[in-house]
Amino acid sequence: MSTQRLHVGIIGAGRIGKVHAESLAFRVPESRIVAIADVNREAAQAVAARCGIATVAESSEEILANPGIEAVLICSSTNTHADLIVQAAQAGKHIFCEKPIAHNLGQIDRALAAVEAAGVKLQIGFNRRFDANFARVRQAVVSGEIGSPRMLHIISRDPGPPPLAYIRVSGGMFMDMTIHDFDMARFLIGDEVEEIYTAGGVMVDPEIGLAGDLDTALIVLRFRNGVIGTIDNSRQAAYGYDQRVEILGSEGKIATENCYPNEAVISTGKMVRKDLPLNFFMDRYTESFASELRSFVAAVREDQPTAVTGIDGRIPVVMGLAARKSYDEQRPVRLEEVNG
Ligand SMILES: NC(=O)c1ccc[n+]([C@@H]2O[C@H](COP(=O)([O-])OP(=O)(O)OC[C@H]3O[C@@H](n4cnc5c(N)ncnc54)[C@H](O)[C@@H]3O)[C@@H](O)[C@H]2O)c1
Repeated sequence: MSTQRLHVGIIGAGRIGKVHAESLAFRVPESRIVAIADVNREAAQAVAARCGIATVAESSEEILANPGIEAVLICSSTNTHADLIVQAAQAGKHIFCEKPIAHNLGQIDRALAAVEAAGVKLQIGFNRRFDANFARVRQAVVSGEIGSPRMLHIISRDPGPPPLAYIRVSGGMFMDMTIHDFDMARFLIGDEVEEIYTAGGVMVDPEIGLAGDLDTALIVLRFRNGVIGTIDNSRQAAYGYDQRVEILGSEGKIATENCYPNEAVISTGKMVRKDLPLNFFMDRYTESFASELRSFVAAVREDQPTAVTGIDGRIPVVMGLAARKSYDEQRPVRLEEVNG
């Protein structure tokens, strides 16, 4: 194992770039952020000042050309990921890239081929695998604690929809939001989905429908090993971020609850109540964001495989394409139909 700290460059200083910079700077002492770049220089400067990053680079090219940088975090908008992966791989940098790699399988395959050719490491930002609740569910499946899994339920509802400008470029709900749940489904069951059926609608905001997307969906998954599952998505839950999972197995079930900022219960003559769950991903998944980066840094320093590979990044995109086709054509869609 290397005794040196891993020297990292960050590309993209928006919402998630800031979260990752803070995790590395304050919670992953085995790493050092050498430089950060964003086409919005002010955003990069603000994160650099907050996290003590010495260099604000002019561009992603400057980061990739820096021989002192061993690994990059690609935290820029999704439409930049595939090209940046190719460029980073060709520059010999190890890569952590946010989800999704791209919306298009051709671009994903080009990026994964470049990674393979360069022999660098790639980890995709499916942080929920590192969440303590979901990791415990996976452990129960692996250990056989609940017998063989039969049914999986994932509830994944956002507190409110993102701005329409974001929805128009995000690739839609399946690529942007459900993509995490597709990854969770594969990860928790430890098997691949063969067929998807989507019942969905526009119930939160008609403008989302006019932008070509949907905001509410129930997705039925059929796994190769016979397990059946559902993903329950909404862009809006009035009571906040709702992130739960349940698996029914032959010997019992395992279920997780939402996470709360405190455990206090207020009881009055009228009602027993508590505060709302942690509001959104930045609060709910803080620990998992730090853990996934610890895992990436360790994989590079110890020359081990990464925990979430390029193929793990590709398959949820195939699932997203199948979910959309099913919604459009109102029929079950086998993944092989869209896995071009
Ligand atoms: N894992 C998660 O839970 C999670 C959460 C949020 C976002 N994301 C993903 O992270 C990515 C960024 O999302 P966000 O919410 O931070 O968006 P954002 O719009 O807040 O930030 C993106 C930043 O990238 C910058 N940028 C765009 N092109 C660039 C380029 N070529 N070089 C350098 N900087 C560039 C933009 O100026 C912006 O500051 C998306 O792919 C999104 O899907 C993942």
